[in-house]
Amino acid sequence: MAVMKILRVLSDGEFHSGEELGAVLGVSRTAVWKHLHKLADLGLELVSVKGRGYCIEGGLDLLNSESITKKLSAGAAEKLATFDVFSEIDSTNSFLLSKNGSAEVCLAERQTAGRGRRGRQWVSPFAKNIYFSMSWVFSGGAQVLEGLSLAVGVKVVAALESLGLKGLQLKWPNDVLIDGKKVGGILLEMSGDVSGDCRVVVGIGLNLQMPQKASADIDQAWADLASLGYAGSRNDITCKLIDHLVVLLDGYSESGFEVYRQEWESFDAFRGKSVKLISADKVEEGVAVGVSASGALLLEQDGYTKAYSGGELSLRLAV
Ligand code: BTN
Repeated sequence: MAVMKILRVLSDGEFHSGEELGAVLGVSRTAVWKHLHKLADLGLELVSVKGRGYCIEGGLDLLNSESITKKLSAGAAEKLATFDVFSEIDSTNSFLLSKNGSAEVCLAERQTAGRGRRGRQWVSPFAKNIYFSMSWVFSGGAQVLEGLSLAVGVKVVAALESLGLKGLQLKWPNDVLIDGKKVGGILLEMSGDVSGDCRVVVGIGLNLQMPQKASADIDQAWADLASLGYAGSRNDITCKLIDHLVVLLDGYSESGFEVYRQEWESFDAFRGKSVKLISADKVEEGVAVGVSASGALLLEQDGYTKAYSGGELSLRLAV
């Protein structure tokens, strides 16, 4: 893609002349101008100064499949079947769902139809955040997968902590929070045989440097890792995500959620707080006291502890 070639040159944040960009693409200066126009469609602002050329202020932290795969742990590298990085795609989850593989990873610089839980869109501006999916096949049917989405949350936090980030928490079932605001989301989608070979696509969206303009489309309190002071690369985060997820997915049929339960509870943002659990037809109120061995939310209500599960529940602080 010609635009990506230009972006790789401009990603250093320096000025580059029309001639230089033309030489990279093997086209004339006029043709370069046409390509540069397309950057606006990606939401990128180009600075153009007569006599100096073009620049993207602050540069761009582009995904680089080579630098990611090079830094993977030996165990993860050995398990990984395919690794795709797209400049643009509808949804990385949809892409992996449309294939039939296992241990496949897909990333994109931007998603045009990124999907969140409960039918929400996932705002996915170009080269700013992480849009990541990984597929895995489990034999033994869907029951093996109980609690998996919570365990993924634990691994996402662990991956980020391994890069020195602190202060991340989880909200049941699997939102990643900073100071009560959502910084990451996890969407698990299944295909295959619920009682036999069952395929899961784990989708993870992480806000790194959400541009103000794009954030106008987010309908909930949000945060990004830049606000925690993270100034590292998206490639490093991706690498850690793969390392941690391979360990989780590879061992999950054996370990189940039980092994991750305590860790999940140590990250629980709502533990001990009065909450409302909202479903389509009911609101439950109680005190959040942790999660069960299968990942259900435990609420203390009138002296009893009750377990609630199900994908359509929404948890709020009771005020
Ligand atoms: C949520 O709503 O909390 C889940 C958000 C999941 C977003 C990620 S981004 C990568 C993958 N592809 C998608 O279309 N969605 C997930």
